[in-house]
Amino acid sequence: MTQFPFWVLFISFCLLLNVTNSAEEELKQSMINFLGKLSNKSGQPDPSFGWNMTSDPCKNLWKGVVCDSQSIYVTRIILDGFNLSGILHANSLCSGQTLAEHLSVLCLSDNNIGGEIPAEIANCKQLTHLYISGNQFSGDLPDSLSQLNNLKRLDISHNQLSGNLPDLPQIAGLTYFLAQNNQLGGVIPKFNFSNLLQFNVSFNNFSGPIPNLNGRFSESSFMGNPELCGEPLPKKCPPSPPESIYVTGIILDGFNLSGILDANSLCSGQTLAEHLSVLCLSDNNIGGEIPAEIANCKQLTHLYIRGNQFSGDLLDSLSQLNNLKRLDISHNQLSGNLPALPQIMGLTYFFAQNNQLGGVIPKFNFSNLMQFNVSFNNFSGPIPNLNGRFSESSFLAFHGWMH
Ligand SMILES: *[C@@H]1O[C@H](CO)[C@@H](O)[C@H](O)[C@H]1NC(C)=O
Ligand SMILES: *[C@@H]1O[C@H](CO)[C@@H](O)[C@H](O)[C@H]1NC(C)=O
Ligand SMILES: *[C@@H]1O[C@H](CO)[C@@H](O)[C@H](O)[C@H]1NC(C)=O
Ligand SMILES: *[C@@H]1O[C@H](CO)[C@@H](O)[C@H](O)[C@H]1NC(C)=O
Ligand SMILES: *[C@@H]1O[C@H](CO)[C@@H](O)[C@H](O)[C@H]1NC(C)=O
Ligand SMILES: *[C@@H]1O[C@H](CO)[C@@H](O)[C@H](O)[C@H]1NC(C)=O
Ligand SMILES: *[C@@H]1O[C@H](CO)[C@@H](O)[C@H](O)[C@H]1NC(C)=O
Ligand SMILES: *[C@@H]1O[C@H](CO)[C@@H](O)[C@H](O)[C@H]1NC(C)=O
Ligand SMILES: *[C@@H]1O[C@H](CO)[C@@H](O)[C@H](O)[C@H]1NC(C)=O
Ligand SMILES: *[C@@H]1O[C@H](CO)[C@@H](O)[C@H](O)[C@H]1NC(C)=O
Repeated sequence: MTQFPFWVLFISFCLLLNVTNSAEEELKQSMINFLGKLSNKSGQPDPSFGWNMTSDPCKNLWKGVVCDSQSIYVTRIILDGFNLSGILHANSLCSGQTLAEHLSVLCLSDNNIGGEIPAEIANCKQLTHLYISGNQFSGDLPDSLSQLNNLKRLDISHNQLSGNLPDLPQIAGLTYFLAQNNQLGGVIPKFNFSNLLQFNVSFNNFSGPIPNLNGRFSESSFMGNPELCGEPLPKKCPPSPPESIYVTGIILDGFNLSGILDANSLCSGQTLAEHLSVLCLSDNNIGGEIPAEIANCKQLTHLYIRGNQFSGDLLDSLSQLNNLKRLDISHNQLSGNLPALPQIMGLTYFFAQNNQLGGVIPKFNFSNLMQFNVSFNNFSGPIPNLNGRFSESSFLAFHGWMH
């Protein structure tokens, strides 16, 4: 067996001691910074706490500090009700490895600590208990909170926290969550309530349905959230809207589309044809004819193709769109005669102005039309009986005569 010379051992020991010492110094410094930031604006901790560089947090029993049984590691910091008024500087507290690896309890309840809960709190990975209730914490909860995998108890109640809850249900061991009396909002995430012993989100701004409670927790854990609904609250949730499965509208107004309207593609598939009720293609540069196959989109109630380059004759098939309520073909280059549109009983809105449509105007029952315009075309012959509806402005530049 090789024998190390004594001096090698000695130097190794000194180096080790040095490393240990500097780690200790660093730990003390970061704790003192942490308390300083909690104390006052000057960043100097109250000397009566005994947190200083010339003493040891465990051996000298720094106020509020609890160590492990060997008095080596700081495992708990308990500073409830000390009228602390600064900020929670998690960057000091949780960046040093020694502390971050051993600190399991942080209690800062009933002080006047303000500002946000910093994201760096997640670096104190060993935390099992985090109590910060009864302070002035505000702003959003950091998402990183849900990375505190060891957390069992979290009390953020009685602050001014707002925003949504982070994904706390992903912390498997969480059994205690108190968040009452804040301004937290959004929906309550899907906790597995079977595993929770205490839960309170009363007097916040939560909304939407309460997740399945598995028969646990009463109204007293959820009251005071005006937009929250469902069991165990008396307020019922509105029935959830049916799932969206079908395309019912295609709205592509003003997208500078050119090309043609391929109704053969659009309307030949049964699913689409049976559910598409709105087709809006206005204010593009679409050209060509309006294809006869458009009639296969039988459920159309709204067809808007104004402001394009459509040309050619309007086809008779258009009058087979029995469900049509609104038809706007204005501002195109359409020609030929109008198909038998009056046979579409429900049509209430017909715009065809500014085309080159011609022939006589078919006999609409004008009592049923709310809007009508055939101005600036090439219509001729008599205008049918208007039943006192519509003025000259619907028939501008008309070549025929009023009935
Ligand atoms: C605030 O800091 C000063 C040092 O600047 C210190 O003397 C005083 O005790 C501190 N006050 C509190 C409440 O910690
Ligand atoms: C440092 O704190 C210890 C208690 O932890 C106290 O006995 C000592 O007087 C303090 N030293 C200074 C310089 O404040
Ligand atoms: C708490 O601290 C504030 C200043 O930060 C002071 O005005 C107040 O008197 C303190 N209250 C108690 C009970 O120590
Ligand atoms: C909730 O937790 C219980 C008990 O740990 C478990 O039996 C159950 O499967 C969990 N439910 C869900 C939806 O994860
Ligand atoms: C409460 O939530 C609603 C949405 O449910 C929101 O419109 C409102 O601004 C919130 N109020 C406050 C005070 O945060
Ligand atoms: C929840 O918090 C509210 C408000 O602080 C309180 O009135 C209620 O009793 C609490 N409920 C439970 C189950 O802790
Ligand atoms: C519209 O498309 C044409 C080519 O199709 C292009 O030259 C023109 O710049 C586009 N206009 C706008 C406003 O995007
Ligand atoms: C037009 O419609 C009105 C109201 O729906 C109806 O009373 C009237 O009989 C109809 N006229 C003709 C000529 O069909
Ligand atoms: C307008 O209609 C008349 C018949 O009423 C026809 O002779 C003429 O060619 C048409 N003009 C255009 C530009 O279509
Ligand atoms: C009909 O269209 C013409 C040309 O676009 C317009 O000047 C007129 O105001 C419209 N009349 C009605 C009632 O919409």
